[in-house]
Amino acid sequence: MREELHRLREDAFNSLKEARSAEDVLAVRKKYLGRKGPIASLIKELGKYPPDERREAGAEINRVKREIEDEIEALLDELRLREREERLKKEKIDVTLPGRSIPFGRLHPVTRVLEEVEGIFTSMGFDIAEGPEIETDYYNFEALNIPKNHPARDMQDTFYVSSDVVLRTHTSPVQIRVMETQSPPLRVIAPGAVYRRDSDLTHTPMFHQVEGFMVDERVTFGDLKGVLSAFLQRLFGEGTPLRFRPSFFPFTEPSAEVDIRCVMCKGTGCRVCKETGWLEILGCGMIHPEVFRSVGYDCEKYTGFAFGLGIERIAMLKYGIDDIRLFFENDIRFLRQF
Ligand code: DAH
Repeated sequence: MREELHRLREDAFNSLKEARSAEDVLAVRKKYLGRKGPIASLIKELGKYPPDERREAGAEINRVKREIEDEIEALLDELRLREREERLKKEKIDVTLPGRSIPFGRLHPVTRVLEEVEGIFTSMGFDIAEGPEIETDYYNFEALNIPKNHPARDMQDTFYVSSDVVLRTHTSPVQIRVMETQSPPLRVIAPGAVYRRDSDLTHTPMFHQVEGFMVDERVTFGDLKGVLSAFLQRLFGEGTPLRFRPSFFPFTEPSAEVDIRCVMCKGTGCRVCKETGWLEILGCGMIHPEVFRSVGYDCEKYTGFAFGLGIERIAMLKYGIDDIRLFFENDIRFLRQF
């Protein structure tokens, strides 16, 4: 019996050595230690032995059985550990890999300039007002001292909705709408879209303007120069040379246009400034008494200045863009640069 037990032990251990998986090991266990296995039969046969031999043989069988069991348990532990390691290796995440970046949007250059202009004026105490883009002839022209048949109406290539209704050609009508409903002192800017029948490298049928005006007792041309100089220095950089040039607008008297020194050539003359060294940047003037009259302000008591500027033009100069149409094509390669 001893020999047989010894052989069984050898066989079991050899089979275990060949086992590659927990399944193999469990098969070995079933084969050797199962209820119908060789160890079980040996135990069954113990009954045939005389009592003193029986005890010894029983102890021997149990010892071998335990040896095999221990080996099986150890192997199972090892295999489970290895399987776990393999699973972990397969599931491993490399946390040092760079993540997928989420593309984020940017503000349109027109929006950026609009926000910058608004920021400068609100910091000087100006409020922001808005008016309708579909405007009546009265607000767009009449109240601004541009009567029918006035030659100034030729300056505006107007889109007519009907004989009396237009797409506003400028943001100046917001002056009238604000003054009709509020009394001085007033410091207001009015940004928004305007429309003109125009289309080339520097003109689009829709573009943006910012209108501004200030009305109070004793507002002078000096205030106009001070506010607009401070604004342009902040927009184009401290020390940017400016020039106020006499001009004409029906709704201001006197009127002026403001030039800044050419941002492209710094004044030496180039294609952008048409070799003059200067760039026209805005129109302005002291609000015409006729305008005050149309909103019922006492033009003996109040004076004021007004100005208007084009946002796309400023964006073109600030960012060195030579075709205004780029702003409205919404080509992502263009927009991504801002
Ligand atoms: N409305 C003028 C335009 O569209 C711009 C302008 C000029 C506005 C002089 C003003 C101003 O308020 O005083 O060309």
